Amino acid sequence: MVDVILGLQWGDEGKGKIVDYFAPNYDIIARFQGGPNAGHTLYVEGQKMVLHQIPSGIFHQNKINIIGGGVVLDPVTLKKECDKVAAFGIDVKKNLFISERTNIIVPTHRALDKASELQKGEGKIGSTLKGIGPAYMDKTGRNAIRAGDLLDKSFISNYIKLRLKHQKLLDNFNFIEDISLWEEEFFEALEFLRTLNIVNGEYFINNKIAEGKKVLAEGAQGSMLDIDFGTFPFVTSSNTISAGVCTGLGVSPKQINDVLGVTKAYCTRVGSGPFPTELEDATGEELRKTGNEFGATTGRPRRCGWIDLVALKYACMINGVTKVVMTKADVLDAFENLAVCTAYNVNGKETSEVPFQMNKLAIDPVLSFFKGWNKNTSAIKDAAELPTNMSTYINYINSFIGAPIKYVSNGPEREQIIQL
Ligand code: GDP
Ligand code: IMO
Ligand code: MG
Repeated sequence: MVDVILGLQWGDEGKGKIVDYFAPNYDIIARFQGGPNAGHTLYVEGQKMVLHQIPSGIFHQNKINIIGGGVVLDPVTLKKECDKVAAFGIDVKKNLFISERTNIIVPTHRALDKASELQKGEGKIGSTLKGIGPAYMDKTGRNAIRAGDLLDKSFISNYIKLRLKHQKLLDNFNFIEDISLWEEEFFEALEFLRTLNIVNGEYFINNKIAEGKKVLAEGAQGSMLDIDFGTFPFVTSSNTISAGVCTGLGVSPKQINDVLGVTKAYCTRVGSGPFPTELEDATGEELRKTGNEFGATTGRPRRCGWIDLVALKYACMINGVTKVVMTKADVLDAFENLAVCTAYNVNGKETSEVPFQMNKLAIDPVLSFFKGWNKNTSAIKDAAELPTNMSTYINYINSFIGAPIKYVSNGPEREQIIQL
C-alpha cells in the first residue's frame, strides 16, 4: 500500500514537515521525482534541517528511506546532506537506499542549466540552477548515467562521452566558466555514493509492499510546476503529480491509496511564470515577512498572494487528492481581511478552469473576501478551539475544491498540527 504526500501549488507548501509528521505511520519513505531543486524543511530536536535529496523520513530511526528511479541525484549535495544527517546519529548506510535507475546530475548539467538561463535573459524560467532540466533532458534523450552504472566498468568512458557532448553545447552557449573544481568534488562524492545501498528499486519496494509494509511517497515541487500540467514553460522537468509516483518508484496505480495534497493557506511562487493572485503590494510584503517566505534552496524571496482556488481545485482533480493538509494557517492570524480567488477573468470573460498557456494571458483574479480571525492560533491543538472566522475560511475552501481538508498546520514544528 502506498500513500502519497505532494504539493498542490508552486512548491514549498510545507511537504517536508508533513512527511516528517506522518512518517511514524509508515515503513518506507520514498522520494519519487525531482532532485536538489527541492528544499524540504523540518525541525529535529528543535533544530532546523533542510533536505534536498534525502526523503524527509530520515530522522525517524528504523525507517527505510529510498530515493526512487524518477529522481535526479546530485552526488555532491547527497554527500553533504548525509554528513548533516549523520550528526544526528542516523546511519545512512543502514536507512538510506537508492534505486539503480536514479539518474545522476553531473557538473556539466549544472553548467548547462546556468548557460541556458543566461541565454533566456528576461524570459528565464528562474531555475534553481541545480542542473535539473539538463539532467532530465539526458534521461529522455537516452544519454544519462544512472546510479546502477557507477558499479560498472564502462562508467568512466560513458561519463567522458557525456562530458564531451555537454562541452559542445556549452561552447554554443559561449559558456567559459571553469568547472574543474565542480568535477573534483563530484568524483569525490561518487566514491561516497558507491558505498551506499544502491538497489533494484522497483523489486525492493514491491517486495516490501508484498510483505505488507506501508510506503509513503514524498513529492517535490508542486502540481503547478508539473512538466505536463503546470504553467509550462515555467515549470520543473518532472511529473510532480500523483501519476509520477508510479513511474518514479515502479509501483502500480492499484497500490496507491491516499493522496494527501498539501497547500498553504495562501499562495507563493519562487522563480518566473504566471501567478494570478500575486500581491505586489504591502499585503504581499506582509505575507512574505510573516510567513518568512524565502526559498529553502536558493534563499530567493518568494512571490506571495492569496490562495488560488481555481488552481487548487485543478490540482486536486489531476492528483486524485483524497485528503488536504492546509499549512501556514497561522501566518494569516493577524490579517484583518483575507481573499480567495474563485475564478479567472480573461479578456472580460470569467472562467473556472486553468487555461492553456496561462503565461500568454492577462488574468485578473475574481476574489471573494473574508474577515480575518485576529487571534494567535499557533498553540491550538484541538479543532474545537479554532476561531469561528478561521473555520468559515477553511470550510469555504473545502467546499469549493471538493476535497476534504483534514489537517491544519499552525506552525513549523512537528507537533503544530490540528486534525479536523
Ligand atoms: P516544502 O518544500 O514543501 O517542504 O516547504 P519548504 O520547507 O520549502 O517551506 C515551508 C516553510 O514553512 C518552512 O520554512 C517550514 O519550516 C515552514 N512551515 C511549514 N509548515 C508551517 C506552518 O504551518 N506554519 C508556519 N508558520 N510555518 C510552517
Ligand atoms: P520544493 O520541493 C519551489 C521552481 C524554480 C523555477 C522552476 C524550475 O522545495 O517544493 P528547476 O530548478 O526545477 O529547473 O526550476 O521550478 N522550483 C521550485 N519552487 N519549490 C521547489 O521545490 C522547487 N523546485 C523548483 O524556482 O521556478
Ligand atoms: Mg521547499
